[in-house]
Amino acid sequence: MLKKILGTILCAAIACAALTGCAGSGKKKVGISMPTKDLQRWNQDGDYMKQKFEAAGYEVDLQYAGGKSDTQLSQLENMINSGCKVLVIAAVEASSLGTALDKAAAKKIPVIAYDRLIMGNENVSYYATFDNYKVGQIQGEFVKKALDLDNAAGPFNIEFTAGDPGDNNATFFFNGAFEVLKPYIDSGKLVCVSGQTDFDSVATPEWSTATAQARAENIIGSNYADKQIDAWLCSNDSTAQGVVNALDSRYTMKDKWPVVTGQDCDIVSVKNMIAGKQTMSVFKDTRTLAERTVTMVNQILDGKEVETNNTYDNNKKQVASYLCDPVFADKDSIQKILIDSGYYKAEDIGL
Ligand code: GAL
Repeated sequence: MLKKILGTILCAAIACAALTGCAGSGKKKVGISMPTKDLQRWNQDGDYMKQKFEAAGYEVDLQYAGGKSDTQLSQLENMINSGCKVLVIAAVEASSLGTALDKAAAKKIPVIAYDRLIMGNENVSYYATFDNYKVGQIQGEFVKKALDLDNAAGPFNIEFTAGDPGDNNATFFFNGAFEVLKPYIDSGKLVCVSGQTDFDSVATPEWSTATAQARAENIIGSNYADKQIDAWLCSNDSTAQGVVNALDSRYTMKDKWPVVTGQDCDIVSVKNMIAGKQTMSVFKDTRTLAERTVTMVNQILDGKEVETNNTYDNNKKQVASYLCDPVFADKDSIQKILIDSGYYKAEDIGL
């Protein structure tokens, strides 16, 4: 008899969770889908969002897709079937999640695209990110200033390393920087000796450090045996780390180290900035983005107006978006931006 009663209670709890999105604990459940653990920032994004959502009273299902779209799709379907009330997704590949988004829409589960816009599907409810074009402009403006392109005679030699072609952000980063630097390429003051200046030629699948290193080693070996490299425009830190490794192993003019850009303030790159091997990064405080995402979820689930400050076209709709501000970082600002703010401890970055 007792078994029967317990079985009935269990079935009722499961039904409740599925119908109300409230897990047995009575809490609303949020599905957080991150692309990979192999790139530092997503571990921080996931951990911090879990902390903030749980502090706000939600139950959290946090999953990492190992860089595989089909894994991310099946994880999302499990989240939908397990009663998640909202999905927060940083897509592995921008256009591969349509079936999951359609299933979420069928169950009236809102979707927030996190950091990376999900393309080609109308069932993206909101987008929370940093101003990615501005990230590229910050990088481009830094190279312009560091080489004093408006006054110095030049010419200066530059190479480019962009991000994953399946990541919608990668074109924003690259185009934002290239818009600043193209006039100097056109005038001949900047010379890309490899000739590789189009996105497809300079893109780095999966933002892989190893892939960026191999390509940079090839470029250095083929074009810079006896030439100085003055700048290397890298769209983020994981690719900048690959370029720095290649410069360490193949570049012969070590006393004329190029300006190297990046993004994310990854620990390895911050250490490289302190060592003078990476010149700048762009800080995108994952705590800011995580807190904004929690605010958006609260507003959605409370039926309140969701605060946004921009829209992005995802080729199916204008997605209401909230853009956080990226911040320039170099070795002189590390203490203030990263240590004093509590983002890293001094010992994390070898200080
Ligand atoms: C982008 C993200 C960047 C970059 C890259 C690799 O989508 O906006 O911060 O690091 O992924 O994680």
